[in-house]
Amino acid sequence: MEKGLLSSVVENLASEQQVICEVAHGSPEYWATVGLRNLILRQPLGLEFTEEEREADKKFHHFASYLGGRLAGCLVLCPREGGDVQMRQVAVVAELQGQGVGTALVEYSEAWARQAGYRRMILHARDTAVAFYEKLGYSKVGEQFVEISIPHWEMEKRLIYIFFCPTSRAKCSKERS
Ligand SMILES: CC(C)(COP(=O)(O)OP(=O)(O)OC[C@H]1O[C@@H](n2cnc3c(N)ncnc32)[C@H](O)[C@@H]1OP(=O)(O)O)[C@@H](O)C(=O)NCCC(=O)NCCS
Repeated sequence: MEKGLLSSVVENLASEQQVICEVAHGSPEYWATVGLRNLILRQPLGLEFTEEEREADKKFHHFASYLGGRLAGCLVLCPREGGDVQMRQVAVVAELQGQGVGTALVEYSEAWARQAGYRRMILHARDTAVAFYEKLGYSKVGEQFVEISIPHWEMEKRLIYIFFCPTSRAKCSKERS
């Protein structure tokens, strides 16, 4: 294969690759996620982030997904008490929705949360996004409620750990205590 053709194939593969990482609060990458959250989650409702919300962001973990080096989606993880962590503001660029970006982001953040020792992921799902979370193993908890003017459901997912028992060589599934 010609060298030029090979390098363009490699470049194309790299541009298709989804890269997900944590971004530091206050970094340019963080501000890009704030822009996306505003565009996808707030502006359609005629809302903007409050000063209180921006201040709270400092304490949270921010994750971003890139496709071909461009921001494709983002979410926020907020540590809560009792081994819980709350997933918030999951947003995918409108033209990229329905292509697996949200799924990959959620799965990455679950892996991150397990690694950090959290036992349960909780979230407030918009009524329109409940089916998306159900496909990822989340269940509704309690009754519907209104948040930022639209119907929401609290949802949860236990973060299960898989262990291999060396004695029986049996595969054991156990919630980390
Ligand atoms: C909801 C959202 C985060 C999902 O991300 P995504 O990248 O579009 O979702 P994926 O492509 O990973 O979809 C995974 C599956 O969920 C389904 N799905 C995605 N969004 C859905 C929705 N709003 N309602 C029902 N099903 C949905 C997909 O069809 C797909 O199903 P399949 O596996 O059978 O094909 C994204 O569509 C989005 O940003 N929506 C607007 C903002 C929003 O509602 N955020 C959630 C706030 S709680």
